[in-house]
Amino acid sequence: MTDKLNSGSIETIMKETRAFPPSKSFTDQAHINDSDSYQKIWKDSQKHPEKFWEKEALSLYWHEKWHTTHEWKEPFSKWFLGGKINVSYNCLDRHLPERKDKLAFIWEGEDGSVRKFTYQDLYEEVSQLANAMETELHLKAGDTAAIYMPLIPEAVIAMLACARIGVAHSIVFAGFSATSLKDRIQDAECKVVFTADIGFRRGQVLDLIKTVREATTECPSVVKTILLRRDSLTTLAPKEIDWEKLTTKQSRQHTAQPFDSEHPLFYLYTSGTTGKPKGIVHSSGGYLVGTSVTTKWVFDLKEEDIYWCTADIGWITGHSYVVYGPLSNGATSVIYEGGPLHPHPGRVWEIIDKHQVTILYTAPTAIRAFMRAGDEYPQKYRLNSLRLLGSVGEPINPEAWIWYHQQIGKGRCPIVDTWWQTETGSILIAPIPGVTTLKPGSATKPFPGIVADIVNEEGHSCAANEGGYLIIRHPWPSMLRTIHKNPERFKEQYWSKFKGMYFTGDGAHRDEEGYFWIKGRVDDVINVSGHRLGTMEIESALVSHPRVAEAAVVGRPDELKGQSIVAFVIPRDSKEKINTQSLQQELKTHVAKEIGSLARPDEIIFTKILPKTRSGKIMRRFLKDLAAGKEISGDTTTLENPGLIELIKS
Ligand code: PRX
Repeated sequence: MTDKLNSGSIETIMKETRAFPPSKSFTDQAHINDSDSYQKIWKDSQKHPEKFWEKEALSLYWHEKWHTTHEWKEPFSKWFLGGKINVSYNCLDRHLPERKDKLAFIWEGEDGSVRKFTYQDLYEEVSQLANAMETELHLKAGDTAAIYMPLIPEAVIAMLACARIGVAHSIVFAGFSATSLKDRIQDAECKVVFTADIGFRRGQVLDLIKTVREATTECPSVVKTILLRRDSLTTLAPKEIDWEKLTTKQSRQHTAQPFDSEHPLFYLYTSGTTGKPKGIVHSSGGYLVGTSVTTKWVFDLKEEDIYWCTADIGWITGHSYVVYGPLSNGATSVIYEGGPLHPHPGRVWEIIDKHQVTILYTAPTAIRAFMRAGDEYPQKYRLNSLRLLGSVGEPINPEAWIWYHQQIGKGRCPIVDTWWQTETGSILIAPIPGVTTLKPGSATKPFPGIVADIVNEEGHSCAANEGGYLIIRHPWPSMLRTIHKNPERFKEQYWSKFKGMYFTGDGAHRDEEGYFWIKGRVDDVINVSGHRLGTMEIESALVSHPRVAEAAVVGRPDELKGQSIVAFVIPRDSKEKINTQSLQQELKTHVAKEIGSLARPDEIIFTKILPKTRSGKIMRRFLKDLAAGKEISGDTTTLENPGLIELIKS
C-alpha cells in the first residue's frame, strides 16, 4: 500500500507548478476578498467547526430553529437537531418575494431549442406535481420515488416535488441498464418511477421507457410510472400515467410542510469496493446547509451570475450543484441536454456566448476532450462573459488546468478545483477564489469547518510531501448519514480503517504550504471519465456470463478518461481454441447490458491463470502494472502462481 501512496509524479507536478494568486480585478469584486479575515474564520472553524456551520445555517429558512447543532455518536452524526425545514421551500418559495421573475433555469436541448423557467414558473410546476403526488398517487413523507430521466426541467421539478412532500428521491443516471435500475428500485423500495419516453444525446434518441418497463417488471413496490411523453406517438402501458394529464388540473399553489432536519432528502447509489452499489443516504437540513454555503463561497456566486454546472442530475454533482446549491441561493442556471461536443466541438462555447454564462463548472475529462478537439473551437467564440471556472470529479492534470485557464478563462478567470464525493454531499476541499492562491493540480485547502488530514497506515499525520490517506477528523453537516439498509457497511467502509476518522478512500499528499494534492482512489474503485465504478461490480457482471470462469478488473491510466477499464478474464473453455475477438465483443456488450455502457471494458485480456496469493486473493497490484505495460514491481514470492498470467490468443 505504501508504494501506491507514494507513487505518482509528485516531483514532476511540483516542478510544473506555478502559483496563481487572485487577480486584483477578481478580488475587488469577490464576496470574500479579505485574506486576513478569511484566515481568522478558517482557523476558528478548525477549532470549533460547529460554530461555523451554525452561523451559516442561519442563512436558510427554518420553520423551526434547531436546539442542538450537532450530536455525534460515532459513526452516526446528526445536525441541527430539533430544527424543521423544507428543502423545496428554501429553493423556491423563499425567493418569490424578490425573485419571482428571475430565471431559475435556462434549458437548452441538443438541437438548440430553449426553455426558460422563472422562480415563479418553477414554483407553480413543482406545486402542481406535489399536489398530484399527494392527492392522486397518495404518496407521503417517508416514501421513496425513483427518477430515471434525461437532463430536462421536469427532472428538477420531480426532485423538488419529492423534497416538498418529504418523499426521498433516488435518481438513477439514465445511462444505467435495466438491471442496474431494477436493483436500485428494489433496494430503495420505490413506490413510483418518474421517467420520460425518450432522451437525446449525441444525435441519438435514447429509449428510456423501454429500460423502465424492463426494469419494473420485477419491482413489486412500484405502483405507478409517471411518464413524460416527449414523442406524441408514445402510448401508455398499464400502470403508467401521463405526466401532463396528472398535473394539468392541479392547483399551482402548494403549502410546504416542515420536516425534521434529519429527514432523508434522497438516496443516491454509488459504487464501492463490493459487487453491489450502496445507497448513500443524505439528510435535509445538514445537506442543504453544506451545498448552499459552498455554492456561495466556492463559486463566489452573485445575484446576476449565469451559472452552468455541466453534470447530469444522475450524479451527486447534479444533485448538489445543478439543483440544491444554486436554487437555495436563488441563482440562474443553464442546463443542457446533450453531448458537450455535439453537434460540433464548440457546442459548450456556443452555449456560453448565447446565454452569457459567467461561471462554468465541469470535469477534467471534458476539459481534456475539448483540448484534444483543438484550440480553434473555443477561439471562434468570445467567452468574455466568463469570470470563474470550476473542475470536479477527478484530479485535474496541470496541462489541462493551464489550457482551461488560458484558452477558456483567457488568464482572467480563477479555477476552483473542488474535491468531494457522493458521500460528502458538498465540496470539502477547494479554493476560495477571492483569497486563495491557486496551484494547477491542487484542490488547495479544506473549506472552513472541514478538518481534513493526511495520515499514514498507522493513522498518524503525514509529514509534508509524504503520501498518505486522505481522512476527515470531524463530521460535517452534509455528510452521508448511513448506507440505506446497511449501517454495518457504513461503519466498516468509512469508520473502521482509522479510529474516529472518516476514511475517504483517496490517497493524497500535502505540500509545505499545506496544499492538498489528491491522487485518486487507493481502493478497488476506479474513476472513468469522472464516473465512479467498482472493479468488483464489473467483475460480477463478467462472471455472470456463461463463458467466463473468473475475472479481475483494473484501471489503466488514460490520457483522456483518467482511467480506462481493463479486464483479465479466464474463459471457461480455455482449453479449446477460442475466438478472442468475438468473445471480447460479446463480453463488452454483456457488461454494458448488465450495468450500462459507462462500464463497458476498454480491453479484455484472456488468460489461463491470474496472479493470486497463497490464500487465493487476486493480486491486482500486478495486474495494474501489466495493464499499464509497466515492469512488474514488488515482491512476487508470495504468489501462488508466479507466472502471473498466461495469455490466450486466437
Ligand atoms: O477520487 C476522488 C474523485 O472522485 C471520487 C468521488 O467520486 P464520486 O462520489 O462519484 O463524486 C464525484 C463528484 C464529487 C473521490 O473519492 N474526485 C472528485 N473530485 C476530485 C477527485 N479527485 C481529485 N480531485 C478532485 N477535485
